Amino acid sequence: MSGRTPVIAANWKMHKRRDEAAEFLDAFLPRATELNGVEIVVCPTYTALDVAIERCGSSRVRVAAQNMHFEREGAFTGEVSAAMLADAGADGVVLGHSERRALFGETDEALARKVPAALDAGLVPILCVGETEAQRDAGETEALLRAQVEADLAATEPGRLAELVVAYEPVWAIGTGRTASPEQAQEACAFIRSRLADRDAAGAEAVRILYGGSMKPANAAELLSQHDIDGGLVGGASLDPGDFASICEAAS
Ligand code: PGA
Repeated sequence: MSGRTPVIAANWKMHKRRDEAAEFLDAFLPRATELNGVEIVVCPTYTALDVAIERCGSSRVRVAAQNMHFEREGAFTGEVSAAMLADAGADGVVLGHSERRALFGETDEALARKVPAALDAGLVPILCVGETEAQRDAGETEALLRAQVEADLAATEPGRLAELVVAYEPVWAIGTGRTASPEQAQEACAFIRSRLADRDAAGAEAVRILYGGSMKPANAAELLSQHDIDGGLVGGASLDPGDFASICEAAS
């Protein structure tokens, strides 16, 4: 393992009402007290953010939102800014998830503005990148990862790279039960780190790069043992407090 502290983040997507978020945390938080050496993040919907923030309180578990707008405020009906998330007590925000890219028109241009806006508001951005199955089959994985990393971080000062979390999430592995092999995931995460090193070598060494895509208790330990994999962004398996705790245990 590297000297980087692992991060395990629960991406709840559009799941869990307020009562369900509270129920999850009541079950999970007692177990989290024993999980040393791992940073734990839960990412609820906007409507459950305050419940999660209140429940997590002074525990070791941090709370992140799943999206934001890059402007501070303005006529953007339905949007939420980084400053508003920070004001609500969030610690971070997921940016560029493949579902937002594929279903909601998220662009690299918007992400280039969102990443520094999140950092400026004091939020940790969890920036997601990853190739589709067709891109992998066409041998375009590295070109795609290079393009996304370069475009999404175009306006981020190199000196701030270490503050980021990047999640490598191959689209073909998300919610499909098909996990990337530890070798495939390691190779992609190492490639992402090498691209970050082009901008800032020390920052690239420090940045945490997570794997996401059907991570579960049965495969977490092997994925997390890879040198350039510093944690996981967990969807389906993060909805159950026991499964999520097992994954966190594998990282601690
Ligand atoms: P999954 O989702 O673990 O259900 O594949 C991961 C993600 O989309 O972040």
